[in-house]
Amino acid sequence: MKKKIIILASGNGSNFEAIVNKLRNKYSIKLISENKEAYVLQRAINLYVDYEIINYKNFENRDLYNKKLFEKLKKEKPDLIVLAGYMKILPDYIVDFFSKRIINIHPSLLPAFKGLNAIKKAYDYGVKYTGVTIHYVNNELDGGEIIAQDIVKIETEDTLHSLEEKIHKIEHKLYPKVIDKILRRM
Ligand code: GAR
Repeated sequence: MKKKIIILASGNGSNFEAIVNKLRNKYSIKLISENKEAYVLQRAINLYVDYEIINYKNFENRDLYNKKLFEKLKKEKPDLIVLAGYMKILPDYIVDFFSKRIINIHPSLLPAFKGLNAIKKAYDYGVKYTGVTIHYVNNELDGGEIIAQDIVKIETEDTLHSLEEKIHKIEHKLYPKVIDKILRRM
């Protein structure tokens, strides 16, 4: 039986699409999104990928949403949970239950520029090199053990837009490669 990847995504979904295109023949892939307006859902439809919406806005509070997500994840029994632009913080009990089986991608060279808008933060700061980090998720925001990094040089002629494009291009190559490597070792 194919190993199973659950992708959690809240937004645009370009990483989701890159992962599906590179790995769909080898692994079973399912998308879960908490945002029913997210473009990633359209991508899942276009690519004929199984998806589910757990609409965050339907829950009275974050705890109830997280409980539902936890139940769902336990039922799905994924080999790996892949965060790809997932804009919610997972509670400790989910992170602990799936310890070393949840990974995230972040658009900076961690531990620099944690949190939101990392590409802009690096650009505005004037660093000469930034990049992409893939890490295990732990109980600290963008803080888990680093699995892989790739460097992007910021040239003087780069704009924020051209830098974003460079970063995304690296993400789309690196993330599927790392996911495959982890799953092959399992
Ligand atoms: C990616 O650049 C990813 O690194 C970033 O969100 C973007 C999602 O793009 N994640 C974070 O900033 C996590 N802290 P996508 O929806 O097109 O894949």
